[in-house]
Amino acid sequence: MNTQQLIDTAKAMVADDKGLLAMDESTPTCDKRFAKLGIPQNEETRLIYREMIVSTPGLSESISGAILYDETVRQQKNDGTSFVKALSDTGIIPGIKVDTGAKEMATHPGEKITEGLDGLRERLAEYVQMGARFAKWRAVITIGEGIPSRGCIEANAQVLARYAALCQEASLVPIVEPEVLMDGDHTLERCYEVTEETLRTVFDQLYRQRVVLEGIILKPNMVLPGLICSQQNSVDEVADATVACFLRAVPAAVPGVTFLSGGQSSELASARLNAMNVKFKSQVPWELAFSFARAIQQPAMGIWGGNSANNVAAQKALYHRAKCNRDARRGEYNTAMEGT
Ligand code: G3H
Repeated sequence: MNTQQLIDTAKAMVADDKGLLAMDESTPTCDKRFAKLGIPQNEETRLIYREMIVSTPGLSESISGAILYDETVRQQKNDGTSFVKALSDTGIIPGIKVDTGAKEMATHPGEKITEGLDGLRERLAEYVQMGARFAKWRAVITIGEGIPSRGCIEANAQVLARYAALCQEASLVPIVEPEVLMDGDHTLERCYEVTEETLRTVFDQLYRQRVVLEGIILKPNMVLPGLICSQQNSVDEVADATVACFLRAVPAAVPGVTFLSGGQSSELASARLNAMNVKFKSQVPWELAFSFARAIQQPAMGIWGGNSANNVAAQKALYHRAKCNRDARRGEYNTAMEGT
């Protein structure tokens, strides 16, 4: 383990007000998003789409790192350059999703446990050889009637911590992603409670597994009301609740908090990140950044629609969303920027 390298990489991932582009959808998830837009679902189309993304001019002005998936990390552009090299050449740090998905948790109806620890040490060594410098593991916590259970939160937290320890052993920065899902009619207050309990449990386990907190990135949900909750809070209320919750549960040693978008619209995700930075950037110990998939990619994917003739327009949309989020990190985003 090279501790200084871990710390330097983690800092670089959240430096200069940039953030991460998550393009690590598993094959089924990518195909589901393509299907909704009538885009053919096969390896060739996924490759062409992702080549469009990594070739976006100026992407590195706002993006510090990109999270790839096992299929993508092995792919190359039409000119033979691997995606990993193409990203690195423009100054974007390549990373890799290494969990194998959230599966139904035995004896815990409605809850999930993320798998992928078996053989992880060997897989990490291969990804390091390929040029990856960080990794990602996503755990999901569902809010519902009588859930989440302590058993589910503890099991996921322990697995996240064991994954993080293996990553650091391999000198890869672990992105630790405990996602409290937005699905449901729960209130913002309920999301706050569950997020605080989850984060406290995750950091307890990271400590027990001797993970160096200066060499991780936390990728959490924002504290939000459920998607179908009758009371939808204001942007400022979400910013206040999220930062208050994190000040209680996230140690100051962590260099960066890179939010997932989780199904928020692109504009709302940017507006909420912006409000957090306007109000709290100078007061919090960690960088408040982004690691969005849908909130950066969705407009571009819609414009692209499976047709390479739309590449330039799709790349402009991708560049725009990435820039909006960099502006949000500076507290300089506003909705007037949309549609320009
Ligand atoms: O693990 C989830 C992705 O990396 C982030 O996706 O921004 O669409 O929630 P999202």
